[in-house]
Amino acid sequence: MIWTSADSKTRMQQTASPKPAGMQRIGMVERSTTGSSMPGVSMPLRSDIDVLKARQEGKALAASLRFSTSELTTIATAISEIARNTVLYATKGQIMLDIVQKGTKRGLQIVTKDQGPGIPDLALAMQDGYTTSHGLGIGLPGSKRLMDEFEITSEVGKGTTIIMKKWER
Ligand SMILES: Nc1ncnc2c1ncn2[C@@H]1O[C@H](COP(=O)(O)OP(=O)(O)OP(=O)(O)O)[C@@H](O)[C@H]1O
Ligand SMILES: [Mg+2]
Repeated sequence: MIWTSADSKTRMQQTASPKPAGMQRIGMVERSTTGSSMPGVSMPLRSDIDVLKARQEGKALAASLRFSTSELTTIATAISEIARNTVLYATKGQIMLDIVQKGTKRGLQIVTKDQGPGIPDLALAMQDGYTTSHGLGIGLPGSKRLMDEFEITSEVGKGTTIIMKKWER
């Protein structure tokens, strides 16, 4: 496995293939332990409608935290981008939305997981303008910029997992 650290905000884990142990699990998904009345949600991503639902669901969950209107839009945009990638490149996957806590700070955690083709070169895929679908190639790097934390793991032939977080100010 190769760890590439692009900057302090991004963690990239590229698992070389073929590899006997299968895809490496990334750290534990943090769960909210206090205070939140809204439970996390897990939703399938199979279509554009699902992407829209995930966007709305994420925005609603974020609205229960102390985020500004523009921060809510920012979060919704990042959700759309990575959920759209899941449907476009992996055809299907799952999105998990959770309220998480770090000390006294609360935040929204967004996890997408797919068993699609994976990304051969993560450092390249995280660059502005890199696309394999005649897109703009800004979905991944743009989402990273919009969020406070961004972690991506991918293995060719196994799939891709992204964990993003946005913290209350
Ligand atoms: N879940 C995924 N599975 C496999 N490949 C992916 C996945 N997500 C992204 N990629 C690859 O990473 C590239 C960059 O993704 P990114 O979202 O930044 O740009 P894009 O989807 O090509 O264009 P757009 O700007 O419209 O989003 C994609 O073109 C694709 O090759
Ligand atoms: Mg994209």
